[in-house]
Amino acid sequence: MGIGTRNTARRREKKRILERFGSHISHGQMRYLRCAHLDMQEERRIGIKFVDKESGRTVIDAFTSAGCFNAGRGNPAIAAALARAAERYDMGTPGFLSRPKIEFAKRLAALCPGDLNRVHLAGSGADAIEAALKLALGATGRREVISTEKAYHGHSGFSLSANGKDYYKHLFQPLMPSFRFTRFNDLEGVRRMASRETAAIIIEPVQGEGGIHVAADEYVAGIRRLCDELGIVLIFDEIQTGFGRTGTLWASGHYDVVPDIMVVAKSISGGLYPNAAMVYRDDRRFTDFVDAHPDFHPTSGGGSDLACEVSSAVLDYITATRVWENAAAMGARFKEGLEDITRENPSIVKEVRGRGLMLGVEYKYEFIGALIADCLAKEDVWAAYSGNAPQVMRFQIPTTATAGEIDELLGKIRRAVKAMRPYLVFMLPMARIPILRRVFDNVHVQIAAFNWVRDIEELFA
Ligand SMILES: Cc1ncc(COP(=O)(O)O)c(C=O)c1O
Repeated sequence: MGIGTRNTARRREKKRILERFGSHISHGQMRYLRCAHLDMQEERRIGIKFVDKESGRTVIDAFTSAGCFNAGRGNPAIAAALARAAERYDMGTPGFLSRPKIEFAKRLAALCPGDLNRVHLAGSGADAIEAALKLALGATGRREVISTEKAYHGHSGFSLSANGKDYYKHLFQPLMPSFRFTRFNDLEGVRRMASRETAAIIIEPVQGEGGIHVAADEYVAGIRRLCDELGIVLIFDEIQTGFGRTGTLWASGHYDVVPDIMVVAKSISGGLYPNAAMVYRDDRRFTDFVDAHPDFHPTSGGGSDLACEVSSAVLDYITATRVWENAAAMGARFKEGLEDITRENPSIVKEVRGRGLMLGVEYKYEFIGALIADCLAKEDVWAAYSGNAPQVMRFQIPTTATAGEIDELLGKIRRAVKAMRPYLVFMLPMARIPILRRVFDNVHVQIAAFNWVRDIEELFA
């Protein structure tokens, strides 16, 4: 078969798969993936990369589902632990005694800061956030929760109520009425809002979806003091920042602060079998409540025996390899390279920020986030812009990345920025006109325009 015939057959197959995805899963998502050149199918998954089934191209996973693959894609040691566990266990009965659960909870507690040594297992990040907020409300008997603007804590009832972007919430109002929001890193704002009616203050030590904002030392220390003064429960959502991502095992390690509750998920699963946990202090407020209401937040699949065996293997892996040290070293190398790119492109890039391998590049305009995502996909890099701040491209590659892989990624980013330039020649001046900028920033316009470009590309392919 000639190359031309093979390419045509591949295109037909891709079209068929896209149509089926559209018919059976989501037409809207299919259009989004296609327009951004993200209509890939993950086949083999190795380290920081996966292979796209149709094209056979190797793609760098620079997003990792916002930090699910700290131990790398398809980590063989963790996959082997899952295979061994499947021979012996199934999910198990949620409330029953079981060696995998007890062993994992004990080991997780030993790695958590301070006296965070009580573990509630859950099915997903959002599920664990639900448990954390319910514990704070139940233990204090108060009803108010303070979250931050642009925060992201999940999509279930309480967690969505704590989400700081209206885009995700407006269709489902009214949500929890007593959830309030302050600006991230605004200690005075929290001080003004907090009172003895406040049950909990919830923050991400580095806001991920909000656009990679690192919590300042004084902010975290000030919130801790405020919580101690007013009897408020301090919750750290470490779902993205945990398991070595920011250069310490937990992001709280950058501060001299222990939260009352820490929530972890994503990389706890090794990217292989979902799991999540809410870890809370050995404090009478909490233990009395949980002892009196052991079923305050049960789930059928959360913290299953299979999941706990996998999570124990994750702990083995990350502590043996000390992934956080690599995240700190590779993060510094990557950040330096991104800063060079910023200096080379002052009209496009505004700032690089983040911690360890949780880095964000803020562009001058929101629409550049979509444009660069598309150019990166064409360079075989899967990177996503922040859901609650589209002008910020996030880079959260596995913490196992090598120096060579960082340099390879930097080369691709440089080429993607260069590929974007011809569009920006006319878009940047036009974006100074507010109405045009709003059109460029509109996600529906972007999807329609990029799909149209994709149609033209395919016509000439
Ligand atoms: C900071 C943060 N909290 C909570 C969640 C919700 O976790 P999950 O998607 O596992 O429900 C996410 C997911 O992206 C997250 O990034």
